[in-house]
Amino acid sequence: MATERTLSIIKPDAVAKNVIGEIVTRFEKAGLKVVEMQMKALSQAEAEGFYAEHKERPFFADLVAFMTSGPVVVQVLEGENAIALNRELMGATNPKEAAEGTIRRDFAESIDANAVHGSDSAASAEREIAYFFGK
Ligand code: TYD
Ligand code: MG
Repeated sequence: MATERTLSIIKPDAVAKNVIGEIVTRFEKAGLKVVEMQMKALSQAEAEGFYAEHKERPFFADLVAFMTSGPVVVQVLEGENAIALNRELMGATNPKEAAEGTIRRDFAESIDANAVHGSDSAASAEREIAYFFGK
C-alpha cells in the first residue's frame, strides 16, 4: 500500500448540520491526515466544472444547485490507501444503502444531499486536488 492523497468535500447539508468536526474526526481517527483545508462557497461554474463527468445525468442541475446552496469544506486527505479508505468511511452514495457507522449513514438524509464527496480513483483524485488546490 502506498501513501495517497484524495479530495474530500463536506457538502452544504453537513456544514448546515454543524458536523464538520465530527466528520473530520472520523478521518483523523482512521489515520487520514488533513493536509489542505478550505471553507468556501462554490460558484455555479466551479460546481459544474467539478462535477463535469455527470453533466449529461438527469440529476446534474439539482446536484449543482445543492452544491452551491451553502458553504462547503474542501480538503485534501493523506494516508495509506487514502482514496479507498475515504470511500469506505463515507459509505454508499445512497445513505439508505450505506453501511452502519459510515458518514453517509450517520449524517446524510438522501442520495442528493449526502454529506460528503470523495475522489473515486487515483485519476479523479489528481484532477480534483488540482481543481481546488493546484498542482
Ligand atoms: P456519484 O459520483 O455517482 O456518487 P459519489 O458521490 O458516491 O461518488 O454521484 C455524484 C453525486 O451526484 C452524488 O454524491 C449525489 C448526486 N447524485 C444524485 O443526486 N442522484 C443520483 O441518482 C446519483 C447517482 C448521484
Ligand atoms: Mg463520484
